[in-house]
Amino acid sequence: MIIAIDGPAGSGKSTVAKLIAKRLNYRYIDTGAMYRAVAWIAQKKGLDLTDESAMADIAGSLNIEFVPGPDRQAVLVDGKDATDFLKSETVGRGAATVAAQKFVREVLVAQQRHIGETGNVVMDGRDIGTVVFPHADKKFFFVADAEERGRRRYEELKDKNPGLDLKTIIEEIRQRDHEDRNRKISPLVKANDALEVDTTRFSIEEVTDHVFKNINNL
Ligand code: DC
Repeated sequence: MIIAIDGPAGSGKSTVAKLIAKRLNYRYIDTGAMYRAVAWIAQKKGLDLTDESAMADIAGSLNIEFVPGPDRQAVLVDGKDATDFLKSETVGRGAATVAAQKFVREVLVAQQRHIGETGNVVMDGRDIGTVVFPHADKKFFFVADAEERGRRRYEELKDKNPGLDLKTIIEEIRQRDHEDRNRKISPLVKANDALEVDTTRFSIEEVTDHVFKNINNL
């Protein structure tokens, strides 16, 4: 069984995807972390992120593993726990650049399909229901107002980033949306058969229950 959850940054998809995976005892695959991993390695090596063949080489040679743990799932990149590094804004911006590249997407989409073939998964991203698994068993498309998504991101980051500005974060969210929705390859778009879930005014628990009920046709 493959459950696809797509949507823009801050829509709550990864939080809910994790909880759904836990309830169903499925694997949770955060495909954004895979694009982030490519950007992270490229930035560490001081490479030009617009060099498409260099980025595709990195994507093809990286070993990305999702390792479930008691508190959180770790993302290992070539055996190293990169979970926290991958969350940074710099890496996020780099990820948007590499995610717009055809060859990087081909390589990572193939890896995602391979992971999906190995069993039950909840996979979140931007193109899971449209490109990676157009025949996914269940598809959801999460949306939420940009202001609310900015507030969520702010709450998540403020402790580790004193001086963080909410307005700037909302601007960045809008900018990221624009890039994700307007890129030529696999733009962020709702699959025709995906259920749209607006999370703006609902708690994580409410959204998770809603998705869970839909999966189980309750
Ligand atoms: O969800 P995220 O912020 O971790 O994603 C990082 C970047 O990767 C973001 O610009 C969107 C892009 N992405 C994508 O294009 N396709 C996916 N399946 C997942 C993420």
